[in-house]
Amino acid sequence: MTQPTYSLVNNATGEKTDLPVVSGTLGPVGLDVGKVYDKLDTFTYDPGFSSTCSCKSAITYIDGDAGILLYRGYPVDQLARHSTFIEVCYLVLYGELPTKVQLEKFDSDIRKHTMINESLKGFFQGFNYDAHPMAMLTGVVGSMSAFYHDTTNNKDPRHRDIFAHRMIAKIPTIAAAAYKKYFGQPFMYPQNHLDYCSNLLHMMFSVPAEPYHVDPIAAKALDVLFILHADHEQNASTSTVRLAGSTGCNPYAAIAAGIAALWGPAHGGANEAVLRMLDQIGDVKNVPNFMAKVKDKNSGVRLMGFGHRVYKNFDPRATIIREQCHKVLKHLGKDNDPQMELALKLEEIALSDDYFKERKLYPNVDFYSGIIYKALGIPVNMFTPMFAIARTVGWCAHWIEMTADPQNRIGRPRQVYVGAPQRNYADIAKRKG
Ligand code: CMC
Repeated sequence: MTQPTYSLVNNATGEKTDLPVVSGTLGPVGLDVGKVYDKLDTFTYDPGFSSTCSCKSAITYIDGDAGILLYRGYPVDQLARHSTFIEVCYLVLYGELPTKVQLEKFDSDIRKHTMINESLKGFFQGFNYDAHPMAMLTGVVGSMSAFYHDTTNNKDPRHRDIFAHRMIAKIPTIAAAAYKKYFGQPFMYPQNHLDYCSNLLHMMFSVPAEPYHVDPIAAKALDVLFILHADHEQNASTSTVRLAGSTGCNPYAAIAAGIAALWGPAHGGANEAVLRMLDQIGDVKNVPNFMAKVKDKNSGVRLMGFGHRVYKNFDPRATIIREQCHKVLKHLGKDNDPQMELALKLEEIALSDDYFKERKLYPNVDFYSGIIYKALGIPVNMFTPMFAIARTVGWCAHWIEMTADPQNRIGRPRQVYVGAPQRNYADIAKRKG
């Protein structure tokens, strides 16, 4: 098939500029507008980057109209059903599913890196007990850049690998410490005989004074949620990691920037916002009133957990999470959970309402995940840290892909300037007003 060609025409002068096309393996082609400024003295303008590719990437593919999400070519629903989070980490980082030997080695490497430096723990003492765990996560992960001086050569693939292993292994330990800080309980050391999610549950919920048994169903539910959150191409936090990383900064600092971006309610903070919204609505009988507010532009109220920049169809992750939600609630004897009932009612009303249909707003990954986290005993302010733990592998993979690319250049967008035109400095005595 011949590639389409595109030209920009300056209607005033008739000057025509051909735009090269960048093709991938799936999805629309990209118009290469990199030389538009040189040739036409004109910028391209796309706030919010609705139509802009910032890079080529081989990690994750999304078809938002069809509701498809692939990691390295594998559909996320197949991975959620048959794989494990650790295997998915390997896949996302290295591009292929591991052999048995490769998986064992990778799993063992991650288990060996779970402890954090004792001095790093001291950072938590500086926070007030009621600090939001995302604030602690941002700060403590940023501080990791002050620790690991043995692997700071970003050009060395081995150093990049060790960074990714450390990051993936230590982020649950840091998140669990942020949780313990709130309760004033001692931080629990990781137990490396436990799998990734069991270890996280152990570090969050065990105490030195008594034995703790990890519920395998809870650990499995968490594992599936983590698979679904592992990567999502150039979302806001990943783009932040890439932009920060494009300067050549310390990779831990780039990940800290990504964590900060994830925190916002339009992004990873939505899972926390969904639960707060359900609490606020309180009862199924209040749904019509709430929906009226959501549709009133002046109210500033949104149906949290609904809508997505890319998905204009069901978010495939939400469909799997909804199923998981039923399973976990049943297992825990919470099948009549009032929040689940409320969420189902909201979903039902929204999906049949013209406001949502016209705008193609469907439940996203965050709509149901909070209900599972809550059922597992995870407090609301730890929901976004859970997302951060899972997304760490995606951030690392993107940072590695970008850093390993010899054509990587610093990310530096331009702007359309709308401020005052050039003017002369006026002496203070002569200023009016
Ligand atoms: N509730 C009510 N109206 C909505 C919602 C919503 N959740 N989402 C979008 N709209 C409306 C919006 O008002 C606009 O209407 P109009 O065309 O009349 O002005 C239209 O739909 C398009 O919205 P937009 O804000 O231009 O879309 P966007 O692509 O910039 O924003 C979004 C995407 C996810 C930020 C947005 O849908 C939203 O705020 N959703 C709620 C927060 C949320 O659940 N975020 C999690 C996203 S998925 C996980 C992640 O990324 O981490």
